[in-house]
Amino acid sequence: MKIVAINGSPKGENSNTNVMVDAFLKGAREEGAETVNIFLSEKRIEHCKGCHTCWLRGPGQCVISDDMLEVLSLAGGANVIIFATPIYFENISGMLKVFMDRMTMIGGPQSQKDKSEKVQDSKSPTAQSPKLMIIASCGHPDREEFQVVSHWMRRVALKMGMDLIGEIYAVQGKLLTAPTEELKSALSDYLRLLEAAGKEIAADLKLSDTTENLLRQTHFSS
Ligand SMILES: Cc1cc2nc3c(=O)[nH]c(=O)nc-3n(C[C@H](O)[C@H](O)[C@H](O)COP(=O)(O)O)c2cc1C
Repeated sequence: MKIVAINGSPKGENSNTNVMVDAFLKGAREEGAETVNIFLSEKRIEHCKGCHTCWLRGPGQCVISDDMLEVLSLAGGANVIIFATPIYFENISGMLKVFMDRMTMIGGPQSQKDKSEKVQDSKSPTAQSPKLMIIASCGHPDREEFQVVSHWMRRVALKMGMDLIGEIYAVQGKLLTAPTEELKSALSDYLRLLEAAGKEIAADLKLSDTTENLLRQTHFSS
């Protein structure tokens, strides 16, 4: 089991979102998974030019020479891809979106079709695709801040032919890196919960109802 997180926070390793990812991946490793945590802030990823040369030349054949192929190679063979992001203006960060646009280079024209009508069987390439997850934090205390991203991720999963197997959202993200004295023990509990979530995904590729409900109810999450 290989689980790869791609973090689109400009704050990289020191980001609020990485506190969540870090705990999740720790749990996954305890269950025997290989984990990779990629910080886009440490990579040079340019904007897609929209030339579609990659569709003519073949997967990975992009006209831009930057760190994109390195990131795709680090993510190669993943069973689970986690997009990790802060909420910026009700959406994912620009850094993560720029990366996702460039993923066009591995899809080809078929990747842009809506697959909602497609019948999927266990032998189809779609069934072998990595599973998708999102982990995000926002600044405000309201769960509504994740509405757009949650809807949009479902559309992205359909388009990419991937199953969205988990969405983990934390409100008041700053408390993850700078908890008040009273919230320190609640944060420890929340991190343990994230570790449990990582274990479950590594073991079964799904979150239990109990863990999912607890993640929603905890003070540190939506
Ligand atoms: C440019 C910008 C836009 C933001 N927009 C929102 C927003 O729309 N809603 C919200 O709740 N928080 C917003 N925030 C706050 C961040 O989502 C929050 O601080 C998050 O935990 C940062 O995560 P990070 O440390 O992983 O980057 C914004 C922050 C920045 C810098």
